[in-house]
Amino acid sequence: YVIGIDLGTSAVKILLMDQEGNVAQEVSKSYPLIHEKSGYSEQEPEQWVEKTREGLSELVTEFKGNVEDIEGISFSGQMHGLVLLDESNNVLRNAILWNDVRTTPQCKQIYDVVGQERLLAITKNPALEGFTLPKILWVKEHEPEIFEKSAVFMLPKDYLRFRMTGQIHSEYSDAAGTLLLNVGEKQWSTEICDQFNIKHELCPPLVESHECVGTITEEYASLTGLSPATKVFAGGADNACGAIGSGILSEGNTLCSVGTSGVVLSYEERNDRDFEGKVHYFNHGKQDAFYTMGVTLAAGYSLSWFKDVFAENDSFEALLDGIEHIPVGANGLLFTPYLVGERTPHADPKIRASFIGMEGSHTKKDFVRAVLEGITFSLHESIEIFRASGKTIDTITSIGGGAKNDTWLQIQADIFDAKIIKLKSEQGPGIGAAILAAFGAGWSNSLQEIADLFIQPATTYEPIPENVEKYQKLFTLYKGVYQQTKELNE
Ligand code: XUL
Repeated sequence: YVIGIDLGTSAVKILLMDQEGNVAQEVSKSYPLIHEKSGYSEQEPEQWVEKTREGLSELVTEFKGNVEDIEGISFSGQMHGLVLLDESNNVLRNAILWNDVRTTPQCKQIYDVVGQERLLAITKNPALEGFTLPKILWVKEHEPEIFEKSAVFMLPKDYLRFRMTGQIHSEYSDAAGTLLLNVGEKQWSTEICDQFNIKHELCPPLVESHECVGTITEEYASLTGLSPATKVFAGGADNACGAIGSGILSEGNTLCSVGTSGVVLSYEERNDRDFEGKVHYFNHGKQDAFYTMGVTLAAGYSLSWFKDVFAENDSFEALLDGIEHIPVGANGLLFTPYLVGERTPHADPKIRASFIGMEGSHTKKDFVRAVLEGITFSLHESIEIFRASGKTIDTITSIGGGAKNDTWLQIQADIFDAKIIKLKSEQGPGIGAAILAAFGAGWSNSLQEIADLFIQPATTYEPIPENVEKYQKLFTLYKGVYQQTKELNE
């Protein structure tokens, strides 16, 4: 057996996987977000530790087998969060999370000091509020006494792992989201550290995601019932683990994941492509590989917004029922999903959504179809960026809300002009963590082979040429809407 722990933003989800790649047990424990001020988003690291311990104890109590057979544990973690420890490894303040947006002035400072071009050359990413370096600079400016006492910074799941093993490490896939890593060279950037007077020791030692960083401590073993021989493997960022858990492990494989926001993530073998910072470019959890990622802020949210405002009493199923009878293009109705601004490709928090082309005969189903098409067009903008750089995007695994409806899956195939794969069962990033543990524990010397054991494709959807052609024309119109409506909310 192996365990995958997914330390999410609202809950920790723990999966116990057996040798056949089946989920043997699962537990989930939630914890609160703290929003002290508008734009602030924090969590108490001790809550992660406690809830994980509770979950593991429950899992072990219910486990019918021998605990010695649980060979390894690994992790998936919410990215970018800042945990600061003092010299005695005590937490100095609440963790500042990825969805905290207080750091706009610090992002500007990063551009001023490092320069946009140099920042991109080193970190491959733009300065975004959610990333870790702006948070460190915020603490330095607003809580200098805490910054002075800081001995090391950690990312959320790295802190959780430290409390299980007593060992301090980070790994490349999560370090990539800090803006302090030279992503291509896989080293902390002493250049950026020096520019902000950040001592080099603040950055923890780096290991690979599948690397064994020790075993759990005797104390942790007695608290949870796990064997002290249980090996602990470093793990990865949730998006990297989501990619591993969906089999995105070789060139040509791309993931489309629709949650509240939506992500298109593509495997990348090379470390030297130039996306001009338009998409995120991070280290993968697979050694020496990368992935690029674009984000649509209101993906599933667009649909739940529409339901809440116009179809409160419908279930999602009822809402989507019958949209297969609405033709491609929703009878001339076009939706742009910018309800809360847009990340890729515009990085524009001010732009707002639109319905265009309404006519008296349109029904609720036309609107629903237009919403699904608009969300998919927005995700397609990321795919267009990947393709423009020369990447081949021909197979896309679809998970999350977008994979729950056959017609939406066909819309994805037609808009993306790619084969869409739906998986048999979805476990999210936790399964990627479990795959890393199984790989680290030596179940196979091929990560792909373990992924094939843990993940099974179910259905494929092929693009229909006639629909592809219609959508290509509509996509051009869709892209024009951004420029035309930009000034409305400035
Ligand atoms: C990625 C990001 C989120 C978090 C969520 O850049 O900010 O996907 O990783 O946990």
